[in-house]
Amino acid sequence: MKNIAVIGTGYVGLVSGVCFSEAGNHVICCDIDQGKINDLKRGIIPIFEPGLNQLIDKNVARNRLCFTSDIPKAIQRAEVIIIAVGTPMSRTGEADLTHVKQVAKTIGKHLNGYKIIVNKSTVPVGTGKMVKNLISEISRDQYAFDVVSNPEFLREGVAVKDTMQMERAVIGATSAKAMEVMVQLHKPFTTKVVKTTIESAEMIKYAANAFLATKISFMNDIANICERAGADVTKVSEGIGLDSRIGQKFLQAGVGFGGSCFPKDTAALLHIAESFGYDFKLIKAVMETNIGQRVQIIKKVESILGSLEGKSISILGLAFKPNTNDMRYAPALDIIPQLNHLGANVKTFDPIAIPEAKKQLGYICSYSDDLYETIRGTDACVILTGWKEIKSLDLEKTKRLMNHPFVIDGRNLFDLTMMQNLGFTYVSVGRPVVHGETTFSNII
Ligand code: UDX
Repeated sequence: MKNIAVIGTGYVGLVSGVCFSEAGNHVICCDIDQGKINDLKRGIIPIFEPGLNQLIDKNVARNRLCFTSDIPKAIQRAEVIIIAVGTPMSRTGEADLTHVKQVAKTIGKHLNGYKIIVNKSTVPVGTGKMVKNLISEISRDQYAFDVVSNPEFLREGVAVKDTMQMERAVIGATSAKAMEVMVQLHKPFTTKVVKTTIESAEMIKYAANAFLATKISFMNDIANICERAGADVTKVSEGIGLDSRIGQKFLQAGVGFGGSCFPKDTAALLHIAESFGYDFKLIKAVMETNIGQRVQIIKKVESILGSLEGKSISILGLAFKPNTNDMRYAPALDIIPQLNHLGANVKTFDPIAIPEAKKQLGYICSYSDDLYETIRGTDACVILTGWKEIKSLDLEKTKRLMNHPFVIDGRNLFDLTMMQNLGFTYVSVGRPVVHGETTFSNII
């Protein structure tokens, strides 16, 4: 059991801190955002994450978890300090390390004995060394300390499960003592541990995300060829995924990847490569294909409706993926302004992401958490998130409510034959177009 301070109560910090407390440690989660800390103290959780509330209540009640904005005190009490602050994408695409540097300086200022400083933020190769140098400089080497890289691989929506039952832990450390403490901390998660250097651990995080993003863009490129060739990308995914060397996961073609990691980390990796004088062409193509998938959706809507001026379009799903209210780099953020720009009236549905979406999109569209009210009276439905509510849509009712039975599906949620039998015109991704009983040209 260790005393742990987690600095940064974003997705990674909060979930990791809570799970380390569940594993039996004493954890203080800190943040400079007093409002966030006040909320957490009152049991208000800033993110939507299944299972997190219960774990917080349980461990706060056991006195194993608490929240504070007094970062110096948390640093002084801790044996292990986890840095989990954001490394957002800067305007040039690089990871912005402002917060990491700030935290390193604060740690250096308040160091009062040997501590292990763990970097969980996604940071470019070399950041661990930089953090070490900053702490040494500010603390004037009064106390010994170790810096460790321990990247996080949790997925939003299943973050608690991904942490409590993690597939692997990656630990990059230079000292045997720090490595041993980190290995012990991960024991309750019964996971495979990859022990390595700080630089390799930092690289593993980017390589993992970039590889997954590459799988998605690869399938999206294959989907675009399938559309031209009359093939079905879902069958292609099935057919190649059964080869264990390829694997069945992350082969779903669609509207492209979003979220807090893939867009940011692919751009950052490109910069890292450039900083070492390497032209990472493959990752450039991955990013380009991803943007292209969003454009494809607009083109598909136009292929059915012609001019979008004055047309009413419903967007089903705003969050970048189901089971989260996260709107970061969500496809909806590119697609809705574009539809709006082309003159369409856009109505949107999402079960939980509306408040977040409003912050980014404002009032260029209307919002509702009522699926059928959103669909009612629209000329086309565009599906952007695979929410279970949308997957289980009553399609006959949908058809009755719409002006025309036109569905553009960015997530391949429905069976082609079923849509054909119901009389929809249905355009999905990488699958043959279903031509329903109506086309826009024969109703105007
Ligand atoms: C991802 C990584 O999975 C996680 O390990 C890392 O720590 C953070 O980034 P997350 O962003 O929560 O997690 O979402 P994930 O479930 O991986 O999906 C990312 C994006 O890829 C979503 O926009 C999703 O819709 C898209 N995706 C995923 C596809 O388009 N096709 C797929 O087959 C899988």
